[in-house]
Amino acid sequence: MPLTEPPAGPLTGPATGSARPLLEVAGVTVRYQGRRRLRSTSALTEVSLDVRPGETVGLVGESGSGKTTLGKAVLGLVPVAHGAVRLDGRDITRLGGRERRALSRDVQVVFQNPYLSFNPSRTVGQTVAETTTMLRDMRPAQVAARMAEMLEAVGLDGAAAGRYPGQFSGGQLQRIAIARALMPSPRLLICDEAVSALDLSVQAQVLNLLADLRERHGLAYLFITHDLAVVRHLADRVVVLRRGRVVESGTVTEVCEHPRHSYTRALLAAAPVADPGEQARRRELRRSPATAGTPERNAR
Ligand SMILES: Nc1ncnc2c1ncn2[C@@H]1O[C@H](COP(=O)(O)OP(=O)(O)O)[C@@H](O)[C@H]1O
Ligand SMILES: [Mg+2]
Repeated sequence: MPLTEPPAGPLTGPATGSARPLLEVAGVTVRYQGRRRLRSTSALTEVSLDVRPGETVGLVGESGSGKTTLGKAVLGLVPVAHGAVRLDGRDITRLGGRERRALSRDVQVVFQNPYLSFNPSRTVGQTVAETTTMLRDMRPAQVAARMAEMLEAVGLDGAAAGRYPGQFSGGQLQRIAIARALMPSPRLLICDEAVSALDLSVQAQVLNLLADLRERHGLAYLFITHDLAVVRHLADRVVVLRRGRVVESGTVTEVCEHPRHSYTRALLAAAPVADPGEQARRRELRRSPATAGTPERNAR
C-alpha cells in the first residue's frame, strides 16, 4: 500500500466549510461507576463536537476535565450513557468487537506515553506488524515494506523496525507510535497528549511532522492537550472542556485571541511561569468560578 494512496473523501482541509463531518460527537454523556459510591460520576455531560475531513480540532481543558474520556468514547473504550458518536454519518457508539476492529483502520490513536504501547521484549517492528496484519490482512513482506516507508515518513531509518523499544529515546519512540498509527491509512488520528511528555525541541519536530502529514495525506486530527500553546500552533478549531462540559468552542483565533470564558482565559494564562507569585495568582484565577451566563460559542 503506497504512502501516496489518496485518502477517501474531500480533502481540501479546513476550507471545506460545508463538508459533512468525518467525526460527530453528539450530546455524549459518559459516567464512571464509583466503586463504593452509590452515585456514579459524570466524566462527560452532553458533549458535542465535530471534526471535518482534513481538519484539526484541539480539545483542551485542565487535568480531569474529561479529555481522555472523550477520546475513549470515540474509540469505544468507555460506554456512552447518552448521545451518539458518528463516523461519516454512521452511528459507531455501540459496535461489537469485529466491527470495532474494522473501524480502527479509519480511526487511530496516539497516547502520551509511548513506552506503554510497546512490548519491551519485542522489536518495534514485531509490535507494529501484529497490529497491521490484524487490521489490513497484509502479507508479511507488504507489512515490512510499508513499515519502512512509514518509519521514513516520521523521519527515522527503516532499520529502526529491528530494534527494541529500550533502544530509543522518548521522542523517537513517539515517532514510531505515530508511524504505527499511520500503518492502516487512517482518516482520523486522535492524539491524546501525544507530545506532552517530549522535550520542547522534539515536541516542535513532532508537531511539524503532524502538520506535514495532514498536508500530504489529508489526515484529520482530534488533538487532545492541556496545553493551549500547542493547539494554537496546530489547530483550526478549539473546543474547551471544563468538568466534562463544553464551555467554549470556535476557531483558534476566536478562542485563543478573544476567549469569552474566564476558564479559557485561565488556561491561556497557565503556561509555565517561573515567578511563584504569578503562579499563585494564576492558580487563584483557575479556582474562581466561571463567568455566569457566558454564551457558549459554537462558531463553525
Ligand atoms: N476509569 C475511571 N474510573 C473512574 N473515574 C474515572 C476513570 N477515568 C477517569 N475518571 C474520572 O473522570 C474525570 C475525567 O478524567 P479524564 O477523562 O482522564 O480527564 P483528562 O484527560 O482531561 O485529564 C476525572 O474526574 C477522572 O477522575
Ligand atoms: Mg487525559
